[in-house]
Formats: sequence, C-alpha cells, structure tokens
Amino acid sequence: MRVGIVGLGYVGLPLAVAFGEAGNEVIGLDTDPRLVSALAAGRSSIEDVPAERVAALGDAFQPTTDHERLARCDAVVICVPTPLANQREPDLTYIVDAGSSLSRVLREGQLVVLESTTYPGTTRERLLPILEESGLAGGRDFHLAYSPERIDPGRVDRTIRTTPKVVGGLTDRCRERAVELYGEICDEVVEVSTTEAAELTKLLENVFRSVNIALVNELAQLSERMDIDLWEVIDAASTKPFGFMRFEPGPGMGGHCLPVDPFYLAFKAREHDFYTEFVELAGKINQNQPLFCVRRMERALNEVGKPMKGSRVLLLGVAYKAGVGDLREAPALKIARHVVELGATLSYHDPHCPEVAELGLSSTSLDEELGAADLVAIVTAHPEVDYERVVRDAALVLDFRGVTRGIEAANVVRL
Ligand SMILES: NC(=O)c1ccc[n+]([C@@H]2O[C@H](COP(=O)([O-])OP(=O)(O)OC[C@H]3O[C@@H](n4cnc5c(N)ncnc54)[C@H](O)[C@@H]3O)[C@@H](O)[C@H]2O)c1
Repeated sequence: MRVGIVGLGYVGLPLAVAFGEAGNEVIGLDTDPRLVSALAAGRSSIEDVPAERVAALGDAFQPTTDHERLARCDAVVICVPTPLANQREPDLTYIVDAGSSLSRVLREGQLVVLESTTYPGTTRERLLPILEESGLAGGRDFHLAYSPERIDPGRVDRTIRTTPKVVGGLTDRCRERAVELYGEICDEVVEVSTTEAAELTKLLENVFRSVNIALVNELAQLSERMDIDLWEVIDAASTKPFGFMRFEPGPGMGGHCLPVDPFYLAFKAREHDFYTEFVELAGKINQNQPLFCVRRMERALNEVGKPMKGSRVLLLGVAYKAGVGDLREAPALKIARHVVELGATLSYHDPHCPEVAELGLSSTSLDEELGAADLVAIVTAHPEVDYERVVRDAALVLDFRGVTRGIEAANVVRL
C-alpha cells in the first residue's frame, strides 16, 4: 500500500514510521519545510521516535511539502493540530486547510481517515463537504473514516501495534476499508457504527481522565485544610481490587489533549442546547490547580519566615509530564509566571527541556542552584533526578508529585 500521512508531528510521525516498518510506502506531507528537510535527512523531531528508525526506512518514507504527492496514495491519514481559538472555541483551520489541499488531488477509490481529536460531527459536517469539492462523492467515489489517536508521549509499555484502534466510517464500506488499513499496523481494530461514535470515544477517554484528575486535585486542596496525607489515602484506596482506579493529584493538567479537548465537546454540546457542566467544572478545577500550587509555595516560604518577593525559587521539571520534553500547556509555565509576578527570582532544572523560550530561561545545573534556592518545587518528576539528593541539599522542598514519599525530612512539604 501507499499511505499518505498529513501532519508529521507527535501523532503523524509515529504513524508514518509504523506504516513504513510494516512494509508500506509512506508519503509524509507537512507544511513545515524545515521539519520535512530534517526528516528527509533521517533526523527525528519527536523524542519517542529515534532518528535511527526514521533513517532505516530509506525510500519507504518520503517526507514532502507537496500535497500533489497524495494523489498516488491508496489511503491518506490526516493528523493535523486541533487547537483552541482566542475565545476557547475549536479552531478547525488546520483540518480545513489539509482537507482543501487534499480535495484538489483526491481521486476515485482513495480512503481518507481523520485522526485529529475533534468534536463529534467534524468528519461528516466539516471535512466531507470540503473533500467533495473535488467533484467526487464520499462513500461512493472515495471512502471516509475517523479513527482517534491514542498516542501517549513517553509511554513504552504500549506501542501503536499493541494499542487497540477505534474506527468509524461514513458507510460500512468506508469502515471496512479503514479496518483493513489499520490491520497493517495494529493487532486489534475496534469497529464502531459511525464517525461520530469514534469521535466521541476519544473525547470520552480524555474527559474521563480530566474529571478524575480534577477530583483528586480538589481532594488535595481539601486535605491540606484537614491536614490529611492524600497520598496515603490514595495508596489505601488503591488496594481495593475492583471499582477504583488510581489517579494522582499534581500541579495541574498539561499536554496537548486534556486541557483542550473538553472545550471541543462543550462547544458542540451548546449547539444542542446542552451544557456539559461536569466537564467544564473539571476543567475549571484543573486550570486553577497551578494557582493553588503557587499559594502552597507562598505558605511554605512563609513558614520559614520568607516572603515570595526576593526569594530564589527553583522549579524542578517544567515539561507537562515525566520523561518527556513537551511543554504544551504545561502547568509549570503558569506557576512560573505567577512566581515571577510575585517578585521571586526564578530558575528551573529540566533534563528534557534545555530552554524555555516563554520564560526566557535555560535549564540551570542542580549543582549550582539546589543549595542556593530558598524553595525547590518539584513540578514534574522526571525519572533522571535523584530526589533523595534534592531533599538532602535543598533548604525547602515542595513536592507536587509525591516522589518524596518514603523520605522522612523536616524540610519537605507535599501536596
Ligand atoms: N500529541 C498527542 O499526544 C496526541 C494524542 C492523541 C491525539 N492527538 C491529536 O492529534 C492531532 C495532531 O496532534 P499532534 O500532537 O501530532 O500535533 P503537532 O503539532 O505535533 O503536529 C502537527 C503537524 O501538522 C503540520 N500541519 C499543520 N497543518 C498542516 C497541513 N495543512 N498540511 C500538512 N501538515 C500540516 C504541522 O506543521 C505539524 O508538523 C491533534 O488533533 C491532537 O489533538 C495528539
């Protein structure tokens, strides 16, 4: 098969490599010429995809900025961004642009699959009419399906092959074609009856996480007032062998999906005169969590007789989660902005993020700053960091990730 992948980012590149490694020819289209040149030279832009895997594909992977190359593909998978616009409403411009370019070269018999996360109805109501500007009819002349991506940056215990793939088609034949396509790279393909069901499946998965994270974050705020160790409570509740799933509190929600996707659902719900209160409440609690963390930092400093103003604050980890360098929507950025506003001198250490342009800072060495900082806040618990050393050498540690559990020390405050 010849497979076209539109958008070679966190989702598209691993997919392109998976199709290439399964023996298919892959045309990788991206609008970013620098990214395309780097990939063509065998370099990878994604931490989870080692450059050797890209280079090993040779001619089987052809990165390009020329959308006309899609005309020769049997299937085209769209993996472009779906961010939020200024008023926090869905911004579908990338899907619209990708669809418009594709419609100019679409030909009979092709399968098009949308993978970008979006609200139910996008494939049928937005993408289909754009593709039909080609003069071809969806479901008759070409096939159209939706399949949500389940990539989880940094995860090593699951691969594209071992993660079941959900697929919904415009018609039964559209779905069957998509099942055949993903059968090349996935052991299990899960069929649902419509593109809308597949779109909502992705949002349910993400909203489920958002709501549960909000629940433990709210309990973290309460347990501070009640002086109960929430980590101990979560450990105890996790011993229940059924009906409980472990979620941990933290400094807030980050990444490309969780802070964004609930707004896609809330937007579409309003069109149906419905308010997704549960979803929005979870979003509100999670958005406020970094501010709660800043207040905890102020209070911890206060306990040792220091104001935030003029104190040296070191953030340990700024990526949105452990083991990756992804800064998108990272709560550390919000914490950092508030800490600076309050007059602290800020530095950070993150082995995965050498520089943070938004903060105008580079990662400082632990040797230099650990002993000098008035407060060290563990925001992201990267596995490379020796937390025993952090507790030993720092004056005051605020642990938002629970990684210092088991270390008894008077200078540690946990969320
Ligand atoms: N990152 C994740 O962990 C993750 C997980 C599941 C789902 N998703 C969803 O997948 C989609 C893609 O996310 P991502 O993280 O891969 O984004 P990304 O920003 O990493 O990559 C998107 C790529 O698309 C390119 N692009 C934009 N417009 C284009 C166009 N018209 N034609 C060709 N290329 C174009 C960009 O240059 C970029 O390289 C989003 O809808 C996202 O919600 C992401």
